Amino acid sequence: ARWQTCLRLARELLLVGPDGKDLKLEYLHTLIDTGHLGPTRHPRKKILVIGAGITGLVAGRLLKDAGHDVTILEANANRVGGRIKTFRTTKHHQPFADPAQYAEAGAMRLPDFHPLVLALVDKLGLGRRQFYNVDIDPRTGSGPDVPVPPVTYTSFTGRTWTYGDDSPDFREPDKRGNSWIRSNRVQVRRAEYATGPERINEGFHLTDDEVRAPAVKMVDEALESLRDYYSDVVDGKRVNKPFDEWVEGWARVIRDFDGYSMGAFLRDHAGLSDEAIEAVGTLENMSSRLHLSFFHSFLSRSDINPAVRYWEIPGGSWRLPHALYQGLRDEVQLGRRMIRLEYHDPSRDTDPEGTGAVGPDGWGVAVQTVDEDDPKELPRLWTADLAIVTIPFSALRFVEIVPSMSYKKRRAVIETHYDQATKVLLEFSHRWWEFTEDDWRDALEGIAPGLYEYYRRGHEADTESVSVPSLPQPEAGLLGAAVKDSGVTEEMRQIDNSLPLRGPALRPATHCFGGGSATDNPNRFMYYPSHPIEDSTGGGVVLASYSWSDDAARWDSMPKTERYVYALRNLQALHGRRIEVFFTGRGATQSWTRDPYAFGEAAIYTAHQMTSFHLDVSRPEGPVHFAGEHTSLKHAWIEGALESAVRAALAVHQAPPVTDREGPGPDQDASGADRKWESS
Ligand code: FAD
Ligand code: ARG
Repeated sequence: ARWQTCLRLARELLLVGPDGKDLKLEYLHTLIDTGHLGPTRHPRKKILVIGAGITGLVAGRLLKDAGHDVTILEANANRVGGRIKTFRTTKHHQPFADPAQYAEAGAMRLPDFHPLVLALVDKLGLGRRQFYNVDIDPRTGSGPDVPVPPVTYTSFTGRTWTYGDDSPDFREPDKRGNSWIRSNRVQVRRAEYATGPERINEGFHLTDDEVRAPAVKMVDEALESLRDYYSDVVDGKRVNKPFDEWVEGWARVIRDFDGYSMGAFLRDHAGLSDEAIEAVGTLENMSSRLHLSFFHSFLSRSDINPAVRYWEIPGGSWRLPHALYQGLRDEVQLGRRMIRLEYHDPSRDTDPEGTGAVGPDGWGVAVQTVDEDDPKELPRLWTADLAIVTIPFSALRFVEIVPSMSYKKRRAVIETHYDQATKVLLEFSHRWWEFTEDDWRDALEGIAPGLYEYYRRGHEADTESVSVPSLPQPEAGLLGAAVKDSGVTEEMRQIDNSLPLRGPALRPATHCFGGGSATDNPNRFMYYPSHPIEDSTGGGVVLASYSWSDDAARWDSMPKTERYVYALRNLQALHGRRIEVFFTGRGATQSWTRDPYAFGEAAIYTAHQMTSFHLDVSRPEGPVHFAGEHTSLKHAWIEGALESAVRAALAVHQAPPVTDREGPGPDQDASGADRKWESS
């Protein structure tokens, strides 16, 4: 039975459908090529979709276009999109001093090997440009006027699917590696680390061969033998084994390794020293995930080579859910939080605890919602033939479900591990990360003669007071000194002044375009914007800290203002104290575990969870279907959410209603009064 589970999981992971068909091709065909769910014997059903994240919006749109009567219930009263969220200027709110600035609270990069999301972005006409995971040389590449290459997907069936026109003149810019790695008080540029990892590695007390291996190589070598399970090396390149062996190979990897955490795998299976694991954890963003399942980290690296190209949506990721929302204004009900879900399962007796709305002669599902904006408003009841629940299981945990679901589904709702992720974003009036040393001199001297030298003598300036004559009260601190009407508050200054600086204040100019730095300080991962923002006044927002798991939990304990000041401090540790003059005093921060609509960053399994219950996660319970990032095996990616949306929409489209109800009747709210519902 365990082997059968592993085989089925392998097929699910590889999207192998019945008769060896490639489900990815089917989903691309449905969502991108046609936008149609195809023929069905049950063309007009009433369908409730719970959640207006990307999954609910895509499923809702496909079902609406197929002629069904769709209602999407979304708890958030202010916006759709869920974990796709951009801090940006709206009618009611301006997060940054420059109204043109925006920054991502959630999803920010779309990899080349995620064709559903890339093609959807193109199909909706949103445009796309590269997101630089590694900083680039801006003098190279074909530039913004050359169209981006088409989206392609090569199936295990041998077929290549393409969307968009060839763009033979497109050239990626060259990677530069000017961004930083700083750990154990040693700081080098990424490009230096790749060729000479010793200094950083010695900081982790590595010895012998390990000291000469860059962290990425250590991980890749540790994982290499597993790739032999399902692929062969032919002319120096990995090629999948023939179909059956390929699927079985993956099933064997699942059988042999799903019980491992990544930490246990690296230590017990791959034989890495504790110190090597500490280095790899710090630099390859794995420390906080070492206790999580081996599979999570393995999957995100197994097919992803470091040369992967990423894309972003100009204007922000929010434009993707927003574009879908435009066609669903009548269907989406904002501010409706599901608190109870009742359904009729023909294989079970009608539940005596029910409202009476569902049953063999009534509806298939009834959902009770509360109003997010107005707690005094009476709960409402929404009825339908079928439902798709897309909310995270961490949120579903708080929904009363009648009758209770199958045993394994309940265990999945209870146990699915959700990771934490926290971002701290800081706005600067100038793009100092792009500066050369000459740019720094010009900029600082332009603010106040003597300021450049003041910072150059930074370590002395900590003890000796250096006067900058043209600046009022430099002794009060130079936070935001170069920013007209900076938003730096007295509270920020107080926190800032109370923190002693660590290490010398001067650092070489970063001179880096896009990409990001890594450090063992609490900020962990920092990203510089890949592109300037159109119509902006010339500054930018830096993702000063992006962290996961325990690294993220540290930030979650702090109030906002403290987060900003600490994030700035830790940014200064890599970039020098002088960046403070450009801080506008404005920032934004998002903790996904504290978000009342997300209940966590994303489903990330701990050891054994995949084999224990993943196959039960997406199995329908009577008329209730399940979709969302967590139901796919591409956890924490939009692509997984989209796969699940198309899968569930197809299933609901083809499913017969579970009850014998004759045509939709009037809906009732919980108080018994008639309520408006578009008649079918
Ligand atoms: P959600 O977006 O969570 O949608 C669920 C919806 O349900 C929400 O709108 C919520 O408000 C609503 N809801 C919750 N409870 C209820 C209730 N009781 N009643 C009614 N409605 C309810 N993906 C990428 O592809 N690239 C990235 O770079 C990337 N980075 C990420 C970074 C972070 C920090 C995070 C958090 C995620 C990132 N992701 C990324 C993942 C991606 O954002 C998610 O996989 C995807 O957005 C999930 O969509 P969903 O529809 O499954 O869930
Ligand atoms: N898609 C996310 C990103 O690009 C990956 C998040 C993985 N999260 C985790 N906790 N391991 O950042």
